[in-house]
Amino acid sequence: MIYLDNAATSHPKPEQVYVRMDRFAREVGANPGRSGHRMAIEAEAEIASVRRALTTLFGGTNPGRLIFTLNATDALNMALKGVLMRGDHVVTTVIEHNSVARPLNAMESSGWITVTRVRPAPDGTIDPGDIDAAINDRTRLVVLGQASNVLGAAQRIGEIGAVVRRRERLFAVDAAQGAGVLPIDIGKDSIDLLAFTGHKGLLGPVGTGGLYVGDRVSPRPWREGGTGGDSALPTQPVDYPHALEAGTPNTVGIAGLGEAVNFVATRGVISMGDHERRLAARLWGVLKPDTRVSLHGPEPAPGRARTGIVSLTLAGHTPSEVGAILDSAFGIAVRTGLHCAPGAHRFLGTFPEGTVRVSPGPFNTEDEIDTLGAALREILT
Ligand code: ALA
Repeated sequence: MIYLDNAATSHPKPEQVYVRMDRFAREVGANPGRSGHRMAIEAEAEIASVRRALTTLFGGTNPGRLIFTLNATDALNMALKGVLMRGDHVVTTVIEHNSVARPLNAMESSGWITVTRVRPAPDGTIDPGDIDAAINDRTRLVVLGQASNVLGAAQRIGEIGAVVRRRERLFAVDAAQGAGVLPIDIGKDSIDLLAFTGHKGLLGPVGTGGLYVGDRVSPRPWREGGTGGDSALPTQPVDYPHALEAGTPNTVGIAGLGEAVNFVATRGVISMGDHERRLAARLWGVLKPDTRVSLHGPEPAPGRARTGIVSLTLAGHTPSEVGAILDSAFGIAVRTGLHCAPGAHRFLGTFPEGTVRVSPGPFNTEDEIDTLGAALREILT
């Protein structure tokens, strides 16, 4: 199989991730922070070292404010439901993934909050000036994706963060598609809440992710329960990370994520992203001359901020048809349809059928991209 669905989840993982998870499950396996024996202490030390590695990768200052979650959706719900209050106004964009859009839509429909959704430029990028203009007296939060999971376009997070900080609002970033392939710096980018997943560009296992909580904000816990310490307290402890981490964490997954983060940090985020962008540029080069192929999103170009995602449609074929043929006849895995981001497809004009989304990862090769190009041309003949 040629796996080109890394924006859904990266596959395969670096070998050391599998090795670490197997070793951790067999040899450590205990519940961190819940008991005083040496296995529990080793588990706690492992979790703490992964907190430190992720905090460093994202330019954070306090590993104690790096909260482990199940995925980016979990982290975004923690951020949005923990910070927003009745009567607040939120600024977001029309192209967000449902992990941002649905919680906001639900709070808006129930009359809790009001929302302004900024439209991007045709290349999918948001103008920081439009964010500035959308902020009003009731705005508490600006929230948007670092990169679109449909277009591949990356936002000027640092410039948007500077606007939000100047206006003294909170800035939340959904780094689900950016973490591991686009640079991010919580300090320089003025980010108050950074939600990320472990299983995409960071190359860790599913069931891992996190929320880095800056020191200007303290989300209310949306999940309460056992934290391993302060058991006598009748309510959730207030200290981070435990306040937001009730329940036994995914220790095996977090151990694997730690190895994955080492892999990414050693290769370098820029170089990981450059590999994907080169493959995206190659696919554009192969397909652009063919008028039966529509390529959506920003064309890869030197210096253009984007991920390796390429969204396309073929004349005379629905995206789901193309995906099924690629899978069954050519052994190529892509994701088709709306990609849990209907707003991005409305923006592109590809709603409701969506697109064929190709998302290369670190282990894909130019030959695999050429095989995909040839397969798409064969489908068109
Ligand atoms: N959000 C993931 C995607 O874009 C699953 O495919």
